Amino acid sequence: MRAVTCVALVALASSPAWAQSQFEKYQKMTAEGSPVELFELSGEELWKKKQGPKNVSLEQCDLGLGAGKLKGAHAKLPRYFKDTDRVEDVESRLLHCMMTLQGRSRAEALKRPFGNANQPSEMEYLSAYVAGQSRSHKLVPGMSHPKEKESYELGKKLFYVRTGLWDFSCTSCHGTEGKRIRMSELPVLSDPKAARPLIATWPAYRVSNSTFKTMQWRINNCFRQMRTPEPDFGSETVNALNMFLTVTAKGETYRGPGTKR
Ligand code: HEC
Repeated sequence: MRAVTCVALVALASSPAWAQSQFEKYQKMTAEGSPVELFELSGEELWKKKQGPKNVSLEQCDLGLGAGKLKGAHAKLPRYFKDTDRVEDVESRLLHCMMTLQGRSRAEALKRPFGNANQPSEMEYLSAYVAGQSRSHKLVPGMSHPKEKESYELGKKLFYVRTGLWDFSCTSCHGTEGKRIRMSELPVLSDPKAARPLIATWPAYRVSNSTFKTMQWRINNCFRQMRTPEPDFGSETVNALNMFLTVTAKGETYRGPGTKR
């Protein structure tokens, strides 16, 4: 892996076309050794495991298509849920099911939303399993309910607004084509062409630190890079940004969980 990293770093100093081909080679090599399936399998076990004060599994969780209907459900998120009267993405909804079906407190369910290489989190395993059930389904986030439209508009505003100590917006890094931070390409996420293949592969296994990451983690991590306090788990802010990104990528065939740098 280290040798590959070196190749890609050297590539930065060379022509953009050559660098691009090195990146593609790197992505292909990393995808081949990805343990994504193992995360899906562990996630399935957790989905079926009886837990919480009520000692029930998540098998009756409604992710938008009805209780326990998982096929294609992830690809239709974020969307409006009548029972909570809000727009939710997959992680917010899983949290809702842990609290309602299993009777767990919010604090307990969120003790450790983001894991690490040694110990991935329950949320990460579960989102891998749920997302895997949407492979080959088109991304069709909710776009008709007034609260879905509101969420999209909020997400769009949040994407462009400058905030924090450094007066950064998402577009400070994701607004101009060809920007990079070290090894990382910075995609213009408001452009459907760039957003589609990327959004259609979250959540994802990150090869650079051997961890499985969710979209909530990704957005929180970018807020950290903006020197802005991280939003609460499942907050309206995160769901709205996720809504904006997914609507921008709509129509793309879901092919995650992916493998990323
Ligand atoms: C200071 C720079 C910076 C800012 C500002 C920033 N990001 Fe990022 N973003 C990054 C970096 C670095 C990556 C990682 C790219 C990689 O892993 O190759 C990234 C990756 C992402 C990705 C994943 C793209 C993929 O490869 O699948 C998403 C989604 C994202 N950012 C959303 C946002 C949102 C939403 C905001 C605003 C709230 C934001 N970012 C603000 C630096 C930034």
